[in-house]
Amino acid sequence: MSTLTASTAFEVHPSTHPVSEAERAERMKNPGFGKVFTEHMVTLTWDEGRGWHSGVLKPYGPLLLDPAASVLHYGQAIFEGFKAYRQQDGGIKTYRPFENAARFNRSAERLAMPALPEELFVEASDLLIRQDAAWVPGAIGESLYLRPLMIATEGALGVRPAKEYLFVLFASPSGSYFPGGVKPVTVWISEDYVRAAPGGTGFAKCAGNYAASLVAQKQAQGKGCDQVVWLDAVQRKYIEEMGGMNIFFVYQEGGRSVVVTPELTGTLLPGITRKSLLDLSQELGYGAEERKISTQEWEAAVKEGRMTEAFACGTAAVITPIGRVKSAHGEFEINGGGTGPVAARLREHLLNLQHGVAPDTHGWMHPVV
Ligand code: PLP
Ligand code: COI
Repeated sequence: MSTLTASTAFEVHPSTHPVSEAERAERMKNPGFGKVFTEHMVTLTWDEGRGWHSGVLKPYGPLLLDPAASVLHYGQAIFEGFKAYRQQDGGIKTYRPFENAARFNRSAERLAMPALPEELFVEASDLLIRQDAAWVPGAIGESLYLRPLMIATEGALGVRPAKEYLFVLFASPSGSYFPGGVKPVTVWISEDYVRAAPGGTGFAKCAGNYAASLVAQKQAQGKGCDQVVWLDAVQRKYIEEMGGMNIFFVYQEGGRSVVVTPELTGTLLPGITRKSLLDLSQELGYGAEERKISTQEWEAAVKEGRMTEAFACGTAAVITPIGRVKSAHGEFEINGGGTGPVAARLREHLLNLQHGVAPDTHGWMHPVV
């Protein structure tokens, strides 16, 4: 149950020690990703009797948790990631936040956690962004990354859904996700580890998926690669994702470029960038398809010149070209190891749309300030 409705949901208790403008400018100089946080956060509490209640905006700071809190033992933890962009006119808009709110609830359902009304999710983010508007960077490619999460806080042992939860939303000014900026990455096709199996949690953005991915990422780095590429768990044949991003391939067919991305099978995370790029590709005159692609086909299509680019996409890094592919069986290069024209054009188009340089013909931008 959820007792709260939007608009009356939050008490506001701003920090009594605001960060000075000079200090903020210093912290925002080279924000990178996920290292700098704004001054406030929003929390909401859920229990069986009252549903969602006690919404509050307060200074950013540590959480107090019972050591028996079930998130620490049984891992009921989900999160989201979306961005607020400074607009050409100085305003601020978030990108498709209701899509993130809906995915948050699909993740919640999979982990037997309570749903949060979508309008409350978006209201919490609007409230935080308005409070911390000075922390939204201005340059194209920079943004304020919003990180909502939900954890089970009930202090009780025993494997069952908890009866108490905490929603937390905080924000982080961000620049480039990868330390190298937008340059092509080398990937390792993992045959030793899988990210998700049928019937599992692959489609959900739950913390455990990322915990389970770390050893594979470590292995990829040990092989001299930047990122891991996941294969399907059953046949270890079809490409699913790259690290924490969805993946696209660019084919040349009958004189035009066709972007192809693995179909959603329940084991892939249904990315909002992925969904956006499928639409934008068609508007830019490319073909767009969702289907299975095997590792064998990947290599053959590149070697035969049918595939000219591959790239990964997600909120954090937007679009990241893939320059080289390695596996236990060998390696090959794509597009001479450089950024291809389709990846570059899609990236520019998406960023222009997000920053209000290109018109928002889909109504994807949600005005905040
Ligand atoms: N795949 C995984 C595993 C992710 O964690 C993410 C990030 O959220 C994505 C894909 C990309 O999704 P989105 O475009 O919604 O950020
Ligand atoms: C993405 O936005 O692509 C992500 O995977 C977010 C990541 C920091 C978990």
